[in-house]
Amino acid sequence: MTRVLTIVGARPQFVKAAPVSVALRAAHLTEILVHTGQHYDPAMSERFFDELDMRAPDHHLGVGSGPHGAQTAEMLRRIEPVLTHERPDWVMVYGDTNSTLAGALCAAKLCIPVAHVEAGLRSRNRAMPEEINRIVTDRVSSLLFAPTAGAAEILRAEGMAQETIVRTGDVMFDAMRMFSGKAAQRSDVLSRLALEQKSYLLATVHRAENTDDHERLGAIIQGLDDIARDLKVVLPAHPRTRKAVAAAGLACARVTMIDPVGYLDMAQLIRNSRLVATDSGGLQKEAYFHRVPCVTLRAETEWTELVAAGWNEIVPPRAPASVAGAIRAALRRALPAAAPAFYGSGHAAEIIAAKLTTCPRKSTS
Ligand code: UD1
Repeated sequence: MTRVLTIVGARPQFVKAAPVSVALRAAHLTEILVHTGQHYDPAMSERFFDELDMRAPDHHLGVGSGPHGAQTAEMLRRIEPVLTHERPDWVMVYGDTNSTLAGALCAAKLCIPVAHVEAGLRSRNRAMPEEINRIVTDRVSSLLFAPTAGAAEILRAEGMAQETIVRTGDVMFDAMRMFSGKAAQRSDVLSRLALEQKSYLLATVHRAENTDDHERLGAIIQGLDDIARDLKVVLPAHPRTRKAVAAAGLACARVTMIDPVGYLDMAQLIRNSRLVATDSGGLQKEAYFHRVPCVTLRAETEWTELVAAGWNEIVPPRAPASVAGAIRAALRRALPAAAPAFYGSGHAAEIIAAKLTTCPRKSTS
């Protein structure tokens, strides 16, 4: 029986792995689940496992935080003996985090073939740690699961072998379809925060390029504080963001800054918001799944199809007034008439499982 070893570690990877685990089980593949421990706060880890009906990891490596080199090195050191012991047929990694890079690199060096879910995404900004992680992971992978037509095209243009590229659709869309009913039933986040439907803006900020740069962080936080004069702004804050806002002494009393929320609360918050303003990749898509317009607080995005279709607008965080002005303009705009199926039909996980079942085990050479 084919054995797939899944490596996760950060919040968005739990969301992506959940529907794939279900599909692997349905296809009678054996999954070994490894959690690097990159995200370790219960609110950013255990809560996701519970809400997404995931079983406990088979191996929890407890790596925790650290500078990029040290964090990645510690992951490599701890993943290697697990792979040597388990000898899976495939190692599956997700997205673009340090856990993705460490898992892929470790497996490739042990000649275990790597399958990369969310392959082919590029921001073209090599100052982002995530961009380096994506490029390296794609290079050492034997199967490249591309979520969109654009991602598959990028992989082809970079010279990846055609037979390694599989256009799957997006597993986050699968997750949304799988769990949005449960979110509507179980989440009481709107009443807890006294929010009316379509009467607030949902914001998130966590990228190092924003949190570690005083000017950009100030532009975002003070821009949002200005918006909050006339529209409620809810900001579930990543621990990194909360620390950075406090350290910079940024005043944002009008913004409702709350602790990180779980998947189900987040789904409800997105679905009922008027607009999402974020630097997260996942949230840009999740806003679209719920047909909510989005402003991306970065200089570029990997999900360019949403920008081209008018659902997303890039707003580089230069100054509070430009951020607030762009958000106000976006709030005034009508929604685009068309909502193309960029992210597949909600069966990406099944396509991935089917490919792993039929694909001969072949490592990179
Ligand atoms: C990581 C990923 C990013 C992904 C994001 C999702 C990398 C390079 N980045 O960034 O691609 O979009 O996860 O959230 O892998 N911290 C806590 N508690 C936690 C986790 C983190 O307090 O549970 C704090 C730590 O102080 C740490 C900081 O947040 O210094 C950053 O954590 P890190 O593990 O570097 O990842 P993210 O910023 O979350």
